[in-house]
Amino acid sequence: MAVIEGKNLIGGEWVGAAAGSFESENPSDTREIVGVFPRSREAEADEAVAAARAAYTAWRRLSRINRGEFVDAFAQLMKRDIDEMTELCARDVGKQWNEARADVIESIHMAQFVAGYSRQPNGLVVPSEIPAKDSYVIRKPKGVAACIPPWNFPFAIPLWQVLPAVVEGNTAILKPSSFAAACGDKLAKLFVEAGFPAGVVNVLQGKGSEAGDALLVHPDVNLYLFTGSWDIGKRVKQICADSADKFAACELGGKNQILVLDDADMSIAVPAALMSCYKTAGQRCVSVGRILVDRSREQEFIERFVAASKRVRIGNALGKDNFCGPLINKPGVEKFVHHNEKARQEGAEVLLAGGPLTEGDLAHGHFVSPFIYRMEYDRESWVLNEEAFSPHVGIVPVDGLEEAVRIHNETPYGLAAAVITESFRKWRFCRDEMEVGLLYVNLPSIGAEVQLPFGGMKQSGNGHPGAATLIDYVTHRTAFTVNHDHEIRMAQGLSAEVG
Ligand code: UN1
Repeated sequence: MAVIEGKNLIGGEWVGAAAGSFESENPSDTREIVGVFPRSREAEADEAVAAARAAYTAWRRLSRINRGEFVDAFAQLMKRDIDEMTELCARDVGKQWNEARADVIESIHMAQFVAGYSRQPNGLVVPSEIPAKDSYVIRKPKGVAACIPPWNFPFAIPLWQVLPAVVEGNTAILKPSSFAAACGDKLAKLFVEAGFPAGVVNVLQGKGSEAGDALLVHPDVNLYLFTGSWDIGKRVKQICADSADKFAACELGGKNQILVLDDADMSIAVPAALMSCYKTAGQRCVSVGRILVDRSREQEFIERFVAASKRVRIGNALGKDNFCGPLINKPGVEKFVHHNEKARQEGAEVLLAGGPLTEGDLAHGHFVSPFIYRMEYDRESWVLNEEAFSPHVGIVPVDGLEEAVRIHNETPYGLAAAVITESFRKWRFCRDEMEVGLLYVNLPSIGAEVQLPFGGMKQSGNGHPGAATLIDYVTHRTAFTVNHDHEIRMAQGLSAEVG
């Protein structure tokens, strides 16, 4: 396919960057250059923020329904382009075809949700002690939003961030991941085609350490919608803490877990674990890194899970029958290998010694096969606590429900988890006691739908969920009270007498 020559979209204009460009490769076959994109830095970030600021007042003064109509037009275009977007996603970030399609479908759902939401009631009518007083809560946009998504949902997560922001009257700068620049470029083209006024959505291509950083420290950004690592998320929050008018919604990493309890149905536990560990090659924020199995079922689970893991079909992301594509890049493979080495150093029993795949068609991509180890629980273990973002799985035997939940809660993270049990008492205990933002029963830890809150606790986020419920976070609330009497009468028995 032809190499895409991408540009930034700033104030409705297609522009390059002073520092030149960067290339993006297909992770399934790095000989293919998917596109060339502007390497934006501070100057281009300044222009993008200025364009978003200039468009802000006119945009926020439109009716919300009117803004929602642009989002609806955008949804229609994605439906038209679903095949093209699926293929682009597979080539750009190496998401296996079926998952690439699911990413586009999730994006369409987000746009449908936001467009429909624009016609929903906005705010509240609130009673007053004083009959002639009417109070309302109305919502106002926060201003200019910098949207900084990761590469792993290259259409869906940018749209979780941008669409709620703009429908509520904010304007936005989207900085796509430099590993998902071609998908970011496609979104830019669709924003223009959907007719969003110039400057309402700007797309700034570039590296996180350059374009992303320039947005983070920019004084005129009000809102950061960030999905990525805990280290950067912490920095985003620190930047916001220093300013009166900056806010952050951060969705960060995880060391997510499946609890396979003593009464688990193995015909659910095994496929739930396979999907949680290997979909997107373990590179979802919600992917599972450790499986806590009741000791009484350990042998049975291990036999079935390891046997099935050996059968996982790994190959080019465009292969419709593959289960799993490549890792995103060389550092991703190095991280996987490092985690495997650490597991060995920490004395883990290796159950499946996966590693980089370099034979035949796979030789030109970042392919790896699953690595599974077993280890007795050790709270201080590095490998049991650090996110691997790859098909690297630890199995930890546990003695009963309460120990499983305690161990679960001892990671610094709390994004997603799954519990496999037939007992309503046990899953209720998990629901109430586990520190986690997304909890599934008899399901994988992946596959959240956009109309749910999406976000974590502790190091997994700052409690401001993404996807649909981000709508709350992109707005301020104004308590608006009107007196309809001919005199002032106050609540709380407060006297209006001056003499
Ligand atoms: C992520 O893991 O980075 O729940 C996002 C899911 C998807 C979103 C995951 N809807 O698996």
